[in-house]
Amino acid sequence: MRIQLPIVSVNNDSHHGGRAALTCRFRCGDACFHEVPNTTTNPYVGDVIADALSRRTVMRAAAVVTAATAVGASATVAAPKASAAEPAAATAATSTRHASRGARGLRFEPVAPNTADTVTVPDGYAQNVVIRWGEPILRGAPAFDPENQTAESQSKQFGYNNDFLALLPLPGERHRQVLVANHEYTDEVLMFRGYDAANPTKQQVEVAWAAHGLSAVVVEEDRRSGKLTPVPRHPLNRRVTATSEFKVTGPAAGSDLLKTSADPTGTKVLGTLNNCSGGVTPWGTTLHGEENFNQYFANATRATDKRYGLGTGATERKWERFDKRFDVAQEPNEPHRFGFVVELDPYDPTAKPRKRTALGRFKHEGATVRLTDDGRPVVYSGDDERFDYFYKFIGSKRMKKGSSRAVREHNLSLLDEGTLYVARLTGDSPAIEIDGTGKLPADGEFDGSGEWIPLATATAKGAVSHVEGMSAEEVFVFTRLAGDKVGATKMDRPEDIEPNPHTGKVYVALTNNSNRGVGSNAKADEANPRNANKHGQILELTERWNRADSKKFAWTLFLVAGDPSDPATYFAGFPKDDVSPISCPDNVAFDSYGNLWISTDGNALGNHDGLFGVATRGDRRGELKQFLTMPNGAETCGPVIQDRRVLVAVQHPGEIDGATAEKPLSAWPDGAGKINRPAVVAVWRKDGCDIGV
Ligand code: FEO
Ligand code: CA
Ligand code: CA
Repeated sequence: MRIQLPIVSVNNDSHHGGRAALTCRFRCGDACFHEVPNTTTNPYVGDVIADALSRRTVMRAAAVVTAATAVGASATVAAPKASAAEPAAATAATSTRHASRGARGLRFEPVAPNTADTVTVPDGYAQNVVIRWGEPILRGAPAFDPENQTAESQSKQFGYNNDFLALLPLPGERHRQVLVANHEYTDEVLMFRGYDAANPTKQQVEVAWAAHGLSAVVVEEDRRSGKLTPVPRHPLNRRVTATSEFKVTGPAAGSDLLKTSADPTGTKVLGTLNNCSGGVTPWGTTLHGEENFNQYFANATRATDKRYGLGTGATERKWERFDKRFDVAQEPNEPHRFGFVVELDPYDPTAKPRKRTALGRFKHEGATVRLTDDGRPVVYSGDDERFDYFYKFIGSKRMKKGSSRAVREHNLSLLDEGTLYVARLTGDSPAIEIDGTGKLPADGEFDGSGEWIPLATATAKGAVSHVEGMSAEEVFVFTRLAGDKVGATKMDRPEDIEPNPHTGKVYVALTNNSNRGVGSNAKADEANPRNANKHGQILELTERWNRADSKKFAWTLFLVAGDPSDPATYFAGFPKDDVSPISCPDNVAFDSYGNLWISTDGNALGNHDGLFGVATRGDRRGELKQFLTMPNGAETCGPVIQDRRVLVAVQHPGEIDGATAEKPLSAWPDGAGKINRPAVVAVWRKDGCDIGV
């Protein structure tokens, strides 16, 4: 079927960012307990300060002018509605001090930090569980039965541990949308009764393969509220799993580095793994970042494997016992086939998903696309590892409008040709003023300039490397090494990146880095200004991404997260006695008013994870308010902020040390003693008005 398209907790201080050991073990293979994979000696931000200030000032002035043009050029960017800076208006629906004021879109009573085992939303708001792990979505899927789960059932049901979410329009079907979700990882201890980690069964492993990947499921809107419910067996419903066939495209397709005994062409990969965040393209497809793929591969010994965090022994899940492709000693190139951005066409369930090698191979948090003024894709992507980098891809082909098959095929090739860049940042304050405590330098801001360093260019005729000593193919497969060689800036775990649809400024979530300044690791610099950084920060870039020749940017730290009473925090200069505490920013999204919404992964302040909104401009810039909190052990993921509803993924509920499938430590979502099921939640206003107005 082809559719006509629109253009369109319990916290444990010994674990990083307050995550449970169980989460670290299954989600990222205990990445934070392993040696830092980046041992290069790239320069620190503060090492180069010459002429930075004058360059920054000139660039900022130019960028502000051009960014306004850029926003209008992107087909899927929401049209401006109202100024975020307009004065607070008294509304009939609100009476409290906080609820009646704030930037438009953020006028709600903030939820207090808490450790309640529920999804807590502001007064006057309601919620529903849209879909849970195991709910049938494809024809022939049985009802969820955790005692008798099979791979066949799971491959037709909603997957585990939903992370990134997208809601896409469904032309021709009013009051319906297509929900696309990532299923990042499985937690077998919570999924299977009697799970023996030393000896998982074949059936358990195959269920886990089927519980990974992606889901597309049509959801129906309730006409009187923001409630959503799934439409099982809709022809667009789809599952992609760890065994679905993918087509490899772009400069590394067919490379010897990607060939295996099962795929001598280097172009056909089975499955996608550890899909964390993602993005929606202006041509109506979705992108999904393959993040901590390293944890699925056993017995790796090469230096390139080490740079990607692959281990030399057995894996946590022991998949290598059931499929030799997970054993690097037997299939050395299989890990080279993961760590890419994958693209799914949710409007064509017959279309094979694709791995886009031109966007590089690293632990992609996600990928966010905008269009230049002349219609070329610009893709931002962070590499979520301590001391790793963030990247930008500028495509060379222009998007076409229309929904014919030819146009569709053309647009599905846009991410295969272009240049991949990595970011290098320079601070504008003297290095001596960055003392690692978070104390602001004398100029009152952590800020500076930056440049995009080209790594390689992919064209229809072949690819060209811009990195000495590396072929183009090597750059696209061992992208981290290319970043090392050109002196990219080591960041505090780059997560989601998102341009503001109103101002064009680009926001980069940096979640935390408890190793910053510890031992021989890189010390604090102006963009990563705290040693032993437990709470993270959000970087704001000002650049002309609407132009395909934009290679420079200005930057400032928009938020330095933590408890506002901590002098080492910063909320864009907003008075700190009036903002919510926040820790470990991860996924970011914008509402149609230009407010930034931030979900958190871990909370080193001892409270549960949550979702926050913050104004990015006007006199309320930096006013951060908490919108909801998560149940025990859960992480907030994938926020989608529509005018009428907020959609969040509740990932790994009950993932607390000591919890098992027999002994859940959360009662969410189905009550005490019931198996915990990761799920998607919609939140709306009970009075039918838009969110936060
Ligand atoms: Fe899966 Fe970077 O969080
Ligand atoms: Ca400064
Ligand atoms: Ca994430």
